[in-house]
Amino acid sequence: MLGIKIFIMPIRPIRIMELKELKLEDLNPDAFIEEQVEEIKSVVGSGLAINALSGGVDSSTVTLLGHRALGDRLKTCFIENGIMREGEPERIVSLFQAMGIPVEIVDAKQQFFDALKGLTDPEEKREAITQTFYKTVFGTLVKESGANYLLQGTNFTDVEETVAGVKRQHNILEQLGIDTQAAFGYTVIEPVIRLRKPAVRVVGQALGLPEELYSRPPFPGPALAARVIGEVTSARVDVVRKATAIVEAELQNTDAFQYLAILHEDKVTGMREGKRDYGMQVEVRCWESTDAQTGTPTRLPYETLERLADRITTEVPGVVSVTYNITKKPPSTIEAV
Ligand code: XMP
Repeated sequence: MLGIKIFIMPIRPIRIMELKELKLEDLNPDAFIEEQVEEIKSVVGSGLAINALSGGVDSSTVTLLGHRALGDRLKTCFIENGIMREGEPERIVSLFQAMGIPVEIVDAKQQFFDALKGLTDPEEKREAITQTFYKTVFGTLVKESGANYLLQGTNFTDVEETVAGVKRQHNILEQLGIDTQAAFGYTVIEPVIRLRKPAVRVVGQALGLPEELYSRPPFPGPALAARVIGEVTSARVDVVRKATAIVEAELQNTDAFQYLAILHEDKVTGMREGKRDYGMQVEVRCWESTDAQTGTPTRLPYETLERLADRITTEVPGVVSVTYNITKKPPSTIEAV
């Protein structure tokens, strides 16, 4: 059932072979910035562009590149899709405001939850998020704003994993043969598509992003939906959001590449105060990796694992079981969906 809707869209041949990675050791950040700023200027001309800022390293870097190139001809939106982490929209908007970049919060929670209703297959969930983001939400925003260009932070790993068929990354369009102009009514510009995450961080730092942003652990485009196994409802996202806040607070001082909480679909029998409590299971993952292509679970101290289990089962209502993933990538992947 992989992405059926994709194949009825206008298609062009897959272009991955034309794309060549710009490796970290070959990157001159200042020259790269200058080149991309010129490229954005020349593509957009006197037109208008729009971009979605999620607060991740890639979209934050692209937001700064775009503003350097276009100034107020770039409209930046934060799409509140209901699947973001705790306090995220407010925090990101205030960090960009401090850099002189206005960000509009667009409330699209209902559209996303409606699209996700009843879906349990991982690729169908990813496809629903892609369609809601690009067609329903951005299609409208682009029309309303008069923009013809969407700037986004697709990186080299996103393309590679999608084309290899590992996971449909939500932001991959052209490389799957989708003609965005015909399908959605705008052209997509991807200034960091030849870079992997460590190189994007270097460019973000050179552009003046605060360290809190350029050194952030990666976070997936489909947000907490990538961490809910089974149906993504508002109530289930609340559970994973609370567990995520605990995992991030407890593990932020490790040097790990990424750490996350996953909500399982199956319930298990637990007990509280001597009574049966049939409840939810949360899985914690913490990864050592350099580029997300492969990964090894961090050997966390047992005390840390115990604290995570205690906090999650007492602070997140309905959770009776916490497990720690000890599988490498491959065969695991970093996220669960
Ligand atoms: P996986 O789970 O495929 O993840 O091992 C590799 C890296 O990519 C992130 N990830 C995504 N990022 N859109 C993104 O922008 C996505 O759909 C997506 N899925 C996974 C993941 O967090 C990890 O860093």
